[in-house]
Amino acid sequence: MKVKELKIVFSEEQIRRRVAELAAEIDALYGDEPLVAVCVLKGACIFFADLVRALKKPNIELDFVRLSSYGMEDASTRTVTFKKDVDIALQGRHVLIVEDIIDTGHTMDFLLRQFAARGAKSLRLAALVDKRERREVDVTTDFAGFALDTGFIVGYGLDYAERYRQLPAVYEIIPE
Ligand code: IMP
Ligand code: MG
Repeated sequence: MKVKELKIVFSEEQIRRRVAELAAEIDALYGDEPLVAVCVLKGACIFFADLVRALKKPNIELDFVRLSSYGMEDASTRTVTFKKDVDIALQGRHVLIVEDIIDTGHTMDFLLRQFAARGAKSLRLAALVDKRERREVDVTTDFAGFALDTGFIVGYGLDYAERYRQLPAVYEIIPE
């Protein structure tokens, strides 16, 4: 895909406001309960950094996973594996996964199953963008920043071939 232009989809100001709202929802839901927030690298890094800093709750631990998937074009043969797992033991913990975007749902379906098997006390998912058009597995996003119908987006952590992650807003790629 050759990039013709980037078209703004979510502005810095829109993102800042929505992240503050999500943080307030998360604070309200967990109250005083200690929480483990897990960032899904690399795409969620910027969303994660802003979200955890917007939380008022003091008792939060941060950890990171990196996943890779093969056979992406064919759901039936698709496998997801850990490139990097969390260090914290999740048994009996309230766990909040923070992801950039849910597309087919396969990546988060894998991670939710893995963490559930470790006996997390609760398991919830926050995603900056919930892209529903290509959903293949039923995944519930507990805290969704924005819904998106179509398009491939970049910026604010999201990449196209490792580019554009550093952009402070979210843009749709318009191909030539
Ligand atoms: P899923 O398993 O299909 O839900 O894959 C989700 C992953 O695909 C995300 O974590 C992103 O890394 C990537 N992805 C899906 N849609 C987009 C997009 O529009 N822009 C950038 N990355 C995307
Ligand atoms: Mg990702």
